[in-house]
Amino acid sequence: MPIKIAAKVAAPLTLSPDLSIIGVYAQRAAKNASKKEGLSPQLASTDRELKGALSAHALREEFTAKKDQVLTLSYFAQGKIRKLILIGLGEGPATAAEARTFAGRAARFANNEKASSFALYLPPGLEARLRPLAEGVELGAYRFAKYFTGDRRPKVELAEVQIGAAGKLPTDSKKQIDLGQAIGRAVNLSRDLSNEPPNVIYPATLASTAEKMAKASGLKIQVFDHKEILRRGMLLIDAVGRGSVRDPRFIHISYVPRTKAKKKFVFVGKGVTFDTGGISIKPAAGMQEMKHDMSGAANIVGLMAAVAAIKPDVEVHGLIAAAENMPDGNAYRPGDIWKSLDGKTVEIVNTDAEGRLILADALAYGRALKPDYLIDNATLTGACLVALGASCTGFYATNDTIGDQFSKAAGLAGETMWRMPLLEDLRDQIRSDVADVKQTGDRYGGSITAALFLREFIGDTKNWIHADIAGPAATDRPSGWTQAKGATGHGVLTFLELIESSGHF
Ligand code: BES
Ligand code: MN
Ligand code: ZN
Repeated sequence: MPIKIAAKVAAPLTLSPDLSIIGVYAQRAAKNASKKEGLSPQLASTDRELKGALSAHALREEFTAKKDQVLTLSYFAQGKIRKLILIGLGEGPATAAEARTFAGRAARFANNEKASSFALYLPPGLEARLRPLAEGVELGAYRFAKYFTGDRRPKVELAEVQIGAAGKLPTDSKKQIDLGQAIGRAVNLSRDLSNEPPNVIYPATLASTAEKMAKASGLKIQVFDHKEILRRGMLLIDAVGRGSVRDPRFIHISYVPRTKAKKKFVFVGKGVTFDTGGISIKPAAGMQEMKHDMSGAANIVGLMAAVAAIKPDVEVHGLIAAAENMPDGNAYRPGDIWKSLDGKTVEIVNTDAEGRLILADALAYGRALKPDYLIDNATLTGACLVALGASCTGFYATNDTIGDQFSKAAGLAGETMWRMPLLEDLRDQIRSDVADVKQTGDRYGGSITAALFLREFIGDTKNWIHADIAGPAATDRPSGWTQAKGATGHGVLTFLELIESSGHF
């Protein structure tokens, strides 16, 4: 059921059902606390209503509204026990990313309290950030619970959020909220696809889900089946998919604005619906996590849904190479040589380095669309996790201008991403003695050699970004606006930010 979000000007505790969540800026709280006058002016009337209990409680718990600090208070009013949660926002003013995190945490508290509705009170000024706030509500309330039966099934769903603003609401507040919810749901669609088990989401069902999304959003979509993949010469996608009884697919979703497009973006996602490693099989421990190996593809589906909602004045294409990497009598082998769509031959060394192969064909297809920006995202290497940890994307850029733009977009989106170098010195590692290029390098610099391999297939594309999302695509330590374990949808908001800010390039 969709969450109903509405905003109006209201003082704390005037709206609410049973749960009130209030965002508080630190400066004001601290200044007034030192004067022993209680909390910020924003909370003065609430404190009076609660007969001073709020300021007393805050003083005892040393709540100064530092960023992410939380204060919880239960009180009795009109015959009911009610709950009040204060969330510290630091000194403010909150950025869009901070507003999203604030609302995300609030929605999570509501889930934990089994509340079907809550009131979210904003500190002065935050009414200008309704879109990220609505995004945060959708993102924070997210959980993947469809496979629970009986007791484990959540009994209460968040159905309604009443936003109480301190200042005047923008005239387009409803539009901002609707847009925010659409974007939040688009990221949640990416999460759903990645969280679905690999017996449910495989290349054909990934494609049919993308088709459903495209149809609902008014986007154009083409799906190439196995025969078409072979006919076009996408033989690296075929190679990776050979060991599976589930055929590979190639998906092309496009958005074209009504007015003449200012720029053309092509996004590419790795869609390995399950990665056993193939003949170079992975160890058993943790292999179940490899259901997330199509998170890059899931991000493309989510991104295109968000693009359809935003309707930017640029052209956006989403490409997905989808295959299941399995060992079998028909599987590709180490030692094989296969030809890419690009024409280059590739010497296979390790069938577990399958992502770069399907991406090579997708990049060759994507560059033929002559994009201004070619951007791929993939759960590509364990080496990237070793380099940057589990919550950071490592990205590569062909020049500093696009590298800086991408960095800036990630910062504004609130996603942790760090630029890595395309070290020319390591290029030797992917030189093959028997084919045009070797699939992998040796042990050290594994994330970089994977990126160098991909670069072989971008032709003369000027602005290329490769984002290795192997770490943050899924998490067992939720934080920020990602409040649930499992798939995060990390990447979608950065790509959106890049698209939306492209007017300022
Ligand atoms: N899907 C994996 C990368 C991965 C590892 C993603 C951990 C998320 C978490 C990829 O297909 C893979 O297996 N890469 C190999 C490459 C190696 C064989 C050169 C790796 O990183 O070990
Ligand atoms: Mn692999
Ligand atoms: Zn993989």
